Amino acid sequence: MKFENNVIDLIKKRTSTRTFETKEIELKQLQKLESYLTEINEDAIVLSGIKAKFVLSSFKSTNLKEDKKIGTYGVISGAKTYIVGIVDKDEKNALEFGYLFEKIVLAATDLGLQTCWLGGTFKKSDFVQNMDLPDHETIAIVSPLGYKKKKPRVMETAMRKVIGANKRKPWNELYFDKNIEIPLTEKGADEYAVPLEMVRLGPSASNKQPWRVIKDGEYFHFFLSRTKGYGVAGFDIQLNDIGIAKCHFELSAESLGLYGEWIEKSPGIGSSEWTYVCTWKAEN
Ligand SMILES: Cc1cc2nc3c(=O)[nH]c(=O)nc-3n(C[C@H](O)[C@H](O)[C@H](O)COP(=O)(O)O)c2cc1C
Repeated sequence: MKFENNVIDLIKKRTSTRTFETKEIELKQLQKLESYLTEINEDAIVLSGIKAKFVLSSFKSTNLKEDKKIGTYGVISGAKTYIVGIVDKDEKNALEFGYLFEKIVLAATDLGLQTCWLGGTFKKSDFVQNMDLPDHETIAIVSPLGYKKKKPRVMETAMRKVIGANKRKPWNELYFDKNIEIPLTEKGADEYAVPLEMVRLGPSASNKQPWRVIKDGEYFHFFLSRTKGYGVAGFDIQLNDIGIAKCHFELSAESLGLYGEWIEKSPGIGSSEWTYVCTWKAEN
């Protein structure tokens, strides 16, 4: 599926929604998203080489009282349809999983639907019960899907405030020029300033923003700065965040006519506190 809107606009438009209208999603929108999921599920096998799949699953009720018990502990209200990200229990590649799930989130945004990544506040057993899941698979991430209510619940507003969801770390904490001593400026990033800004605007678990990038000529080395003691057992949620960064960087670069390829070759630079993940090698 080719997005109707420019991906940079979609990245800017997307925010997490936790208060939804109870109305049904239009059939046309659902069908378009279903066919995109088919494409992404093929990409998961053929391009990413991971044992993961993405499906839509609907609950019968959107009743607020029942929401409290079903699915998301009351974090989400109104939505009854969810994007469900399933992985094999032995699949460790959270990077590619995050990359693919974010593509679906942007596709939903393109269709005028709202979403919210959920890696923690969802009740796995309720989702498992709602679908036929073989023993070797588990659910890593879900996202509600639907139309945002004009007025968010007080709980949602409070939650955003506590997380600082509207804030992002400044460039000089995230991006570096050749080594970690020298911050990378937007001027120094040149034509890649926008793709890096799109990484910065991305969602991340608890808004921890663990992405770090060192630019070295045509190489952009992506690192993970882990939050100590943070993470969900079984699924590497912060590596998943780097997958989101990878998605935003690649799609926005390509929309600007900037091409390159992803390689994995540790550059031997960076902070001892970070884990090297991957490198974008820009085409000259
Ligand atoms: C991998 C991942 C897991 C997340 N898990 C949850 C969650 O369990 N519950 C929740 O309410 N929000 C969750 N979020 C949403 C983040 O809190 C949100 O993306 C961040 O605060 C930035 O806000 P924004 O998405 O509106 O830009 C998650 C986001 C990501 C990327």
